[in-house]
Amino acid sequence: MNIIDGKAVSKAVRERVAAETEELKKKGVTPGLAVIIVGEDPASQVYVRNKEKACEEVGFYSEKFALPENTTQEELNALVHELNERKDINGILCQLPLPKHLDDKEVINLINPIKDVDAFHPVNVGAIMIGDYHFLPCTPAGVMELIHSTGVDVCGKKAVVIGRSNIVGKPMAMLLLHENATVEITHSRTRNLSEITAGADILVAAIGKAKFVTADMVKEGAVVIDVGMNRDENGKLCGDVDFEAVKDKCSYITPVPGGVGPMTISMLMQNTLTAAKIQNGIE
Ligand code: GUN
Repeated sequence: MNIIDGKAVSKAVRERVAAETEELKKKGVTPGLAVIIVGEDPASQVYVRNKEKACEEVGFYSEKFALPENTTQEELNALVHELNERKDINGILCQLPLPKHLDDKEVINLINPIKDVDAFHPVNVGAIMIGDYHFLPCTPAGVMELIHSTGVDVCGKKAVVIGRSNIVGKPMAMLLLHENATVEITHSRTRNLSEITAGADILVAAIGKAKFVTADMVKEGAVVIDVGMNRDENGKLCGDVDFEAVKDKCSYITPVPGGVGPMTISMLMQNTLTAAKIQNGIE
């Protein structure tokens, strides 16, 4: 069993982005990311702080828009319109979840697709579906980088995704399909789930249930990627996979924390760099 080091792979991506950013700056372009956060959700505040830190690390310009909990839809929409027009802002990210009185779909639809570095806009989702895209959704893109880091060829393998969310499960299946895996999407209503997952050469768990994937659900020698971020019965951070039980059965596995988590923000940096290049007619 090999533990995939998400921190190391993430660092390599950031170093690549930082090097490219340095070159871009010589051409007079500094990638700029706007991060919008509404309200006081503590987890969101941590994520946003980490996104700002990552921008600094790779040499981007970043601007945080911390709006109060009682912000109206009109105010939020107006900010997005303003950021769409700004030349120094290449990427716009609205941290989710939004407070209940605000409509996230409405905001996502307003972001100019070429600045949608989350790849949440329907135009970008559609582009992923047909395999003609600029931006990959950050978490699935990070998972693909981790799989690539193992050297395991995805082509022709059976890949099973547990979870069908718009942010992870569905685009994850598409990216695996683009690399010629035979893909099955499973979810909470799937019958005989264990039998299906036990046939997977590559298993991606993204269901949000602590230690859901047990050893009997995993094929000997599989690559297991854990997107989960849960708390166990003792309040300790854990994934969707029962790591201790599964680790000796698979060929590669990601830990939680230190697996998929660090990748997501690195892929956001990659998307922001791509956005800056496209908007400035470079490449
Ligand atoms: N909230 C949790 N994950 C994400 C993400 O990837 N992007 C945004 N915008 N909000 C999130």
